[in-house]
Amino acid sequence: MRCAFGKSAIPGLFSQTLTLTSVPRPSRDVEKGKVIVEVAVVGLNPADYKLAEAGFVARLQLPFPKTLGTDFSGTVVAVGSDITDIKPGDNVLGRMFPFNSAGSLSEYVVASYDDVAVISKTVTLEQAAGAPTVAQTAYQTLAPVVQAGDKVFINGGSGGTGTFCIQIAKALGCHVTVSCSTTKVALCRELGADEVMDYKKTDILEALQSGGSKYAVAIDNVGNLNLFGSADKFLLPGGLFRLVGAPSSLSTAWKLGYNLLASKYLPVFLNGSKNTFNAYITKNSHEDLAQIAALMAEGKVRTVVDSVFQFSDVLQAYERLGTGSSTGKVLVHVRENLGL
Ligand SMILES: NC(=O)c1ccc[n+]([C@@H]2O[C@H](COP(=O)([O-])OP(=O)(O)OC[C@H]3O[C@@H](n4cnc5c(N)ncnc54)[C@H](OP(=O)(O)O)[C@@H]3O)[C@@H](O)[C@H]2O)c1
Repeated sequence: MRCAFGKSAIPGLFSQTLTLTSVPRPSRDVEKGKVIVEVAVVGLNPADYKLAEAGFVARLQLPFPKTLGTDFSGTVVAVGSDITDIKPGDNVLGRMFPFNSAGSLSEYVVASYDDVAVISKTVTLEQAAGAPTVAQTAYQTLAPVVQAGDKVFINGGSGGTGTFCIQIAKALGCHVTVSCSTTKVALCRELGADEVMDYKKTDILEALQSGGSKYAVAIDNVGNLNLFGSADKFLLPGGLFRLVGAPSSLSTAWKLGYNLLASKYLPVFLNGSKNTFNAYITKNSHEDLAQIAALMAEGKVRTVVDSVFQFSDVLQAYERLGTGSSTGKVLVHVRENLGL
């Protein structure tokens, strides 16, 4: 069974067109480079519905009908003949490529080698399902560009991406300042944040500007303020500003274009920036997923679980995610008996 939607030319709201569809179980005669996984748990991401509901834009980017979901954990049932480090019976975490019609809210997925990595027996299938997109995002935006001792600012520390950004930045030896709402301050501190700015009580832009140029990297998971416009005041000269998340709107598109221009081409006297602006898109990498699985096994990072739903309650699970206020990850059990 799988959760697919959008049979018509314009996909529309998936809450109105979502169907549970029976499809044949994939043949165990698997192609080279591919891994068949019996899915156990799916971790939801805002991109699941943002991409799918983007009207004609979605039609240009995605094949429909589209099976929802990107992240999963599960048990390998077959591997291509060229794959030697993953075998049937292994538990894995994984991420389906968001622009394919195949998604993870399905009893079985056929993933590519780069989409999966084996997890240790000490990591639960729930923990593993919450990590692939958000932990890869945190790892890929931070690991290649920070050094131990660097100061990092993370706008939005309490969602799926933010909770992993804090933990991965700390695992890399950084000093972490993060923004979040009042009820999530304690969690951000518990995850390792050195300084926490409560955006309900503090003007984040003002606090950043008055703190002086000290951050080597800023990661923006919210995109609500045009932080890059003032980045020269809080980033070190030559610092890197990475936009990860933002509302889907024309104003976001305009700011994105302008910031890229200001960062790359405008001289400082014409309002250009001394810093680099980068809008980051997460890529699947077997090495990065394996590194995340290792950090989880070592107890250095964990999935913060907001809520858990059953497969039949997928719509309620997306409603919860759609509030934009979840604390960590919203998970869906696809397999009934996880053997927990
Ligand atoms: N570029 C990529 O490849 C990529 C990859 C992953 C995610 N993303 C994007 O990144 C964004 C975050 O994703 P996610 O999975 O972390 O979302 P999420 O799990 O839904 O988390 C959103 C979090 O942001 C907090 N928040 C809301 N307004 C805030 C504000 N003004 N300041 C600070 N925190 C605020 C919310 O808590 P409160 O409401 O309590 O504040 C909530 O905890 C989304 O737009 C997503 O599409 C992009």
